[in-house]
Amino acid sequence: MSGSLLEVRGLEAAYGRARVLFGVDLEVGAGGLMCVMGRNGVGKTTLLNAVMGVLPPTAGTVLFDGEDVTGLPTHERVRRGMGYVPQGHETFPQLTVAENLQVTLEASRHRDRGAIDEALAVFPRLTELLNRRAGFLSGGQQQQLAIARALVTRPRMLILDEPTEGIQPSIVAEIETAIERLHREDGLAVLLVEQYLELALRLADTFVIIEGGLVRRSGTAADLRDAEVKRLLAV
Ligand SMILES: Nc1ncnc2c1ncn2[C@@H]1O[C@H](COP(=O)(O)OP(=O)(O)O)[C@@H](O)[C@H]1O
Ligand SMILES: [Mg+2]
Repeated sequence: MSGSLLEVRGLEAAYGRARVLFGVDLEVGAGGLMCVMGRNGVGKTTLLNAVMGVLPPTAGTVLFDGEDVTGLPTHERVRRGMGYVPQGHETFPQLTVAENLQVTLEASRHRDRGAIDEALAVFPRLTELLNRRAGFLSGGQQQQLAIARALVTRPRMLILDEPTEGIQPSIVAEIETAIERLHREDGLAVLLVEQYLELALRLADTFVIIEGGLVRRSGTAADLRDAEVKRLLAV
């Protein structure tokens, strides 16, 4: 028994002949929070897409809660508790905030309306915007909606790709607080791609740094202060 909720083994991914990941290994325990770090273009988004089956990996395995999900379609992984918030705050722009949450609920396994209220309690700002079309929200509000949609599925693990990228500082703080609470109070496991070292230092239990298509460095939050980490992340 490893106790891991997510276990990634030897994951390889490519776009046509361009190989991006050469065998990534990582593990996130139930209730753990891991930051995936690395410079722009190293393959962090590719890794999350491969973990979710959005981009089928060319080799390797993804185990969730001890089960091999490598061959499953993305929606089946979501149903098993992998909540994904892709980079760039994806929402349905023509639908209102309420409708965005409703369609996600209808696609969820549990279909319990209470999940919408729970997600809105995490981002109270959204309750005043329920009738607004998502396309008319600010980038930060859209990111909150994208996370809220993932929460409506009642995930066991939240997988977030740079949730604070390009977002106004006031909402960055709200998103950080929300992630921290979900993790520390509700025990939600989190896999977070994050470029800001300071934010990673505050949130992470563990981290991996990707370079050259592999995990070059891993450790606990305290190790993020090492000089080598700064070198691997320096632009
Ligand atoms: N759809 C795609 N088609 C071809 N190449 C891609 C595609 N998406 C990303 N890449 C390339 O794969 C590499 C990794 O990209 P990405 O995973 O987005 O990196 P990161 O998220 O770490 O910034 C980059 O060289 C990027 O140009
Ligand atoms: Mg990316």
